[in-house]
Amino acid sequence: MPTLLPNIFSSYKINNLTLPNRIIMSPMTRMVSNDKNYPDKDFNSYYRRRIEGGVGLIISSASFINHPSANGYPNMPAFYGAALDGWRNIVTEVHTAGGYIFSQLWHAGPVRTPEIEPHSGIPGSGPSSIVKEGKVITKKLSSTDMHDIIFAYVQAAKDAQSLGFDGIEIHGAHGFLLDHFFWKKSNTRVDEYGGSVNNRGRFACEVISAIRAAVGIEFPISFRFSQWKQDDYNAKIVDNPDELEVLLSALVEAGVDIFHPSTRRFWEPAFEGSDLSLAGWTKNITNKTTIAVGSIGIDHEYIINHFVGEEPFETKPVIIDEVEKRLSDGEFDLIAVGRAILADAAWPQKILNGELKNIQPFTSESLIQERSSL
Ligand SMILES: Cc1cc2nc3c(=O)[nH]c(=O)nc-3n(C[C@H](O)[C@H](O)[C@H](O)COP(=O)(O)O)c2cc1C
Repeated sequence: MPTLLPNIFSSYKINNLTLPNRIIMSPMTRMVSNDKNYPDKDFNSYYRRRIEGGVGLIISSASFINHPSANGYPNMPAFYGAALDGWRNIVTEVHTAGGYIFSQLWHAGPVRTPEIEPHSGIPGSGPSSIVKEGKVITKKLSSTDMHDIIFAYVQAAKDAQSLGFDGIEIHGAHGFLLDHFFWKKSNTRVDEYGGSVNNRGRFACEVISAIRAAVGIEFPISFRFSQWKQDDYNAKIVDNPDELEVLLSALVEAGVDIFHPSTRRFWEPAFEGSDLSLAGWTKNITNKTTIAVGSIGIDHEYIINHFVGEEPFETKPVIIDEVEKRLSDGEFDLIAVGRAILADAAWPQKILNGELKNIQPFTSESLIQERSSL
């Protein structure tokens, strides 16, 4: 029987890769690395089961680069040193299962408390300093610091390439380091990295250009950005499509192949006066591969409390005809699915077969269950 979702289940080419369908497993941190920040063998089956369940591409959980303030949470996987052996095993497992995987490279920036390992005692870092009760909790980056961070990103990207990852995603969203440069409220610099949209985007562009020079033209580089922050869902890094164009055009020039505008509801209009979503605007402006994300297949939007488990909650699976229609209209090219795939590794197969009622819903138990089923 032909599928009712022909666009979602059609192949898609990115540089030298041909994805079997349009479904990406969205990057999801689970804070389950061991106390050496090593992604041990439990990660292998977690990712393999998603390939077996039908996802076309996995974007790994955020993994921190080799800079003292890069990690923001406990038990996060590192992307340097001994942890690279764990990542090599994950790549092998995913490839053996016939899938593809990108590594999401991350610097937490100001989202860090000083006790976080492996460099406890170090404050967070950002475009501007943040002082609370007389204590520096976020250090303003000097040009030497920024140079070191670019170097760490480049090393991580080169390592990802040599470990066999199929591409990388630079995490420039959700209030972490690069995003804090984008945002007027958090970036009060008066040098060439602050002020205009161009200036606020400069550091991210320098990171991308340096990576692109190191990995060559074929290795896919995705860039994730967002208007919203973990602590402010109404934040805006750009106020209108013209500003978005300035930011994205500079990132294209720097070498981005794929944009991943992170929203909590994929269908929402991005700016007043138009129904176009943020993914739609991104695709129109850049004509680059664009990933839509946010409440696909699930009836509640992402909130941080889901993650930290403060309140019990339940969600329900929902049909995804609207996604199919927008893909067919060319509004975006790919979809990232987070919580629905966390709760049910076979989500892609189940939507392909129209088995909505057999999908495991995402609930407050899902993260715990996933941890224990590793
Ligand atoms: C448990 C959990 C962990 C997440 N970790 C990350 C992460 O490491 N990197 C990232 O860019 N986004 C992260 N996100 C956001 C998701 O990638 C996704 O954008 C968000 O959940 C919305 O998609 P959804 O509605 O399909 O769940 C996380 C979300 C959840 C629920």
